[in-house]
Amino acid sequence: MRSLIFFAGFLAIVAATPSTTQAKVVCYYDSKSFVRESQARMLPTDLDPAVSFCTHLVYGYAGVQPDTYKMVPLNENLDIDRSHQNYRTITNFKTKYPGLKVLLSVGGDADTEEPQKYNLLLESPQARTAFVNSAVLLAEQHGFDGIDVAWQFPRVKPKKVRSTWGSIWHGIKKTFGTTPVDDKEAEHKEGYTALVRELKQALNVKQNMQLSLTVLPNVNASIYYDVPSIINLVDFVNVDAFDYFTPERNPKEADYTAPIYTPQNRNPLQNVDAAVSYWTQAGAPSNKIVLGIATFARTWKMDSESEISGVPPIQVDGPGEAGPYTRTEGLLSYPEVCAKLINPNHQRGMKPHLRKVTDPSQRFGTYAFRTNDDKGEPGLWVSYEDPETAGQKASFVKSKNLGGISIVDLSMDDFRGLCTGDKYPILRAAKYRL
Ligand SMILES: *[C@@H]1O[C@H](CO)[C@@H](O)[C@H](O)[C@H]1NC(C)=O
Repeated sequence: MRSLIFFAGFLAIVAATPSTTQAKVVCYYDSKSFVRESQARMLPTDLDPAVSFCTHLVYGYAGVQPDTYKMVPLNENLDIDRSHQNYRTITNFKTKYPGLKVLLSVGGDADTEEPQKYNLLLESPQARTAFVNSAVLLAEQHGFDGIDVAWQFPRVKPKKVRSTWGSIWHGIKKTFGTTPVDDKEAEHKEGYTALVRELKQALNVKQNMQLSLTVLPNVNASIYYDVPSIINLVDFVNVDAFDYFTPERNPKEADYTAPIYTPQNRNPLQNVDAAVSYWTQAGAPSNKIVLGIATFARTWKMDSESEISGVPPIQVDGPGEAGPYTRTEGLLSYPEVCAKLINPNHQRGMKPHLRKVTDPSQRFGTYAFRTNDDKGEPGLWVSYEDPETAGQKASFVKSKNLGGISIVDLSMDDFRGLCTGDKYPILRAAKYRL
């Protein structure tokens, strides 16, 4: 009998070992994709080919109710009502993939109503309690395995890389100093640490419920994340090291949106390596750090003053034209970029195609562009991730012994296989290199 118990214990250890060493592939599902049109509309069934590659599926996003500070569905009709019940549809993937963990994420920049509530909540113990209790209940009711906190902290101010006024401007800023984006930084950092602790306590009461954090792009982690105090409370941290440049934040200057290392003369803090190092240098075990890889592209309009070489940083004129499917200025899904690239298989369209410029050093990423044509059609400059660069990021993750990758998000990858016939090429390429 004793040997049988011993043997069962041995089996349990053997069974547990791969899951603790296996790299995480955290797949974000953005529920907004359900209401896009035509080819961009992604239904939960479209997720199926992706899910076998994912260790975690994260449902984005729930929000915070402004008056009560409760965590609530952002779209009841879609998320929980009988007509769609997407929360349930997504958590039901566990029937087919028993090892899969499905988390419900809150925030993620999807929650736009009264954005200051995210700071206010952190200032009040009562508000935190209301949030924590409602969060655990909501996740539990719909079969989630835990919660991902993609907190909407204030963002760092965008800065120009170069400017004809460069030296003068620099002098002015030095004299007056830079105003902080949040005058209660310390209080919010403390409140956030308390929130994570309280959430962990509440989730501990439930069996096996997980807690992850997502650091959104352009949130200065050193201001808000007290690494030694929170890292042992969470299962992993997704570091969204992308969107260092966006057409919204940087309408006049385009640059690599998610370089692995610092390109020459750029802010040494705005790249993957720096974002990840903040956590590991502050004492986080590297296997708890998950690197976020964006599947979407950021685009800008080139104008007559944009350097025709296309080399970034480059002067531009606001967001690029909307894509045919995603229909949002300055943003393209990977299949939308793919369709614009010069490719012998493509039909000759009305517009000239984009020329792709790869980076042989594998440090900064790929961009593509076309200059203005002589008929006055504006050019386009695009920074994006493709299967190759996503694979390079996965290799970076592997070389640094990080916990894995997250794909942000599945709906912007080529989920229909329009580019080459392979569905989810970015997810696949990254997973393959882990
Ligand atoms: C983040 O904040 C620290 C101070 O805590 C500052 O030194 C650093 O420059 C900031 N990073 C960015 C990218 O603004």
